[in-house]
Amino acid sequence: MPHQLMAVQGDITSLAVDAIVNAANESLLGGGGVDGAIHRAAGPQLLAYCRDLGGCPTGEARITPGFRLPARHVIHTVGPVWQGGQAEEEAILASCYRNCLRLAAEHGLRSLAFPAISTGAFGFPLRRATRIAIQEIRDFMATNEMPMSILMVAFDEDTLGVIESTLQEVS
Ligand code: APR
Repeated sequence: MPHQLMAVQGDITSLAVDAIVNAANESLLGGGGVDGAIHRAAGPQLLAYCRDLGGCPTGEARITPGFRLPARHVIHTVGPVWQGGQAEEEAILASCYRNCLRLAAEHGLRSLAFPAISTGAFGFPLRRATRIAIQEIRDFMATNEMPMSILMVAFDEDTLGVIESTLQEVS
């Protein structure tokens, strides 16, 4: 079965996929945005589990159970804070996607959903972030069996439009 990469609009916490990605911070102890939504939906066991992980450096990823989420797992990654583009932000964001994909493949996960990492509170320009995401996902899919199906989840219509147009651009 060929790989699938699709853009969808919605709430990532509602997706019954093998793993959803969380745009976390280095403490892994929750926050606002998608991080807050995922912790609310997963329930308090997620926070308890994360406490034992001892945090996550920017650019890296950690996997946990999904607990009360419909998703089986959560892959937490910490994106770069946008500082104007001269502090390796693009390379760090690329490593977030690669590390999430690597963890998913290591755990034999078939389906994976990404939010638009770093494009909210961390201020990364959306189109630039989307190009990086698509490039990393496509490179990974070209050389790895799993995951088979990847969703890029937009929380709002504008974000969906940017993801869809960028998918067209780079196809
Ligand atoms: N489902 C899907 N996407 C969502 C959801 C949701 N329920 N809630 C928010 N988003 C989208 C935002 O609209 C944005 O496009 O996720 C994207 C990332 O935005 P943030 O959640 O603000 O994440 P980020 O920019 O990476 O900042 C991370 O914010 O919440 C804190 O603890 C987190 O310190 C960390 C920082």
